[in-house]
Amino acid sequence: MADSSSSAPQQAASASTDKTGINDDGFLTDCWYLAAPSDELKAGKQQRIMVLGEPVVVGRTPAGEAFALRDICPHRLVPLSAGQQIETEGEWTLQCPYHGWRFGTDGGCKHMPSLTDDSPYDPSRVKVRRYPVHEASGAVYLYVAHNPRSDAPPAVPPPEFGPLPEKPGFVIHDVFNAHMDDAVVGLMDPAHVPFVHNQWWWRPPSAGLKLKEKPFGPTDRGWAIDRHQPSSNSKLYRWVFGGKVETEIRFQLPGYRWEIISNDTARLLTLTCLTPEAPKRTRITQFTWWTGAPLLHLAVPIAKPMARKFLSQDREMVDLQNEGMAHQKAMLWIDDIDVQAKWYQRLKREWTECRTEDRAFSNPIEPRVLRWMS
Ligand code: FES
Ligand SMILES: [Fe+2]
Repeated sequence: MADSSSSAPQQAASASTDKTGINDDGFLTDCWYLAAPSDELKAGKQQRIMVLGEPVVVGRTPAGEAFALRDICPHRLVPLSAGQQIETEGEWTLQCPYHGWRFGTDGGCKHMPSLTDDSPYDPSRVKVRRYPVHEASGAVYLYVAHNPRSDAPPAVPPPEFGPLPEKPGFVIHDVFNAHMDDAVVGLMDPAHVPFVHNQWWWRPPSAGLKLKEKPFGPTDRGWAIDRHQPSSNSKLYRWVFGGKVETEIRFQLPGYRWEIISNDTARLLTLTCLTPEAPKRTRITQFTWWTGAPLLHLAVPIAKPMARKFLSQDREMVDLQNEGMAHQKAMLWIDDIDVQAKWYQRLKREWTECRTEDRAFSNPIEPRVLRWMS
């Protein structure tokens, strides 16, 4: 139980050139990532985001369809996000601001204004990378294929979190100065809670440490803590839901962690999505949806700043961690508190191997009870 091991979270970051399913920065490919909450994408508008170190223009057509293209015009490399949406022969296109090339949602060039009528040049030969997009329950996801030229259907379906209302009750986000791996591992770490999140309304220091004992098991590209009674420190849950609630916590590659709190009449789901923007920059977006808990609508003005506070406490700890990481790579991970961090690394390795060997994912996690004091 007390064996320890040192581990470098970014061990997969190098030597990946001959591998599929991971890029040189150690970010998983052939995966769906959160692009943006739906209400950030206004009809007829677009914006530039960074995903796995690459610029992507995401937006919404006037008809309401979300789209995602590489945000670099193949001509002279100007961001398409700086252009405008214009119809071309009845079809939606995004026009580059420099020389007016127009691209469809499929990434194909539909029009080059400089071409003369008798020009032999065929604009449709020019393509900009297109990212498959999926929108559900107020979240827009995009699929990052390993091969940027691939037109193959996504290797896995978009993430699915069970029945949800159409819109989240609220959404918060933050940006951590951390590699995605360190951000994931930091957010799933069970032992920091009494030290980092010890505000009086959640977990006052006087609460002391209690034995936690939770059964974990493998799920689809991840793991779950089976339904259990929430820890007694979460006063808020009891207040909002009444006495008898159960919680369920899940993690799935590449970076989704969700917690479902439910009883006979209500269901609340908090989803944390991690999107790597750059090698040391990770966007964290947290959605909270619920049904059947009318009191919660009243609680939003309180719950939203509370959730923001939690995330900012984690972000501050990442900044402190960076002070150490500037001098040392190796960490000392111990059981049982760092078992989930090790699982995450194993899942990443399996993902890379199964993509490289072109076979189905086989979850390496065995069911196990984890015990710790927190
Ligand atoms: S740079 Fe985009 S059209 Fe010339
Ligand atoms: Fe935390």
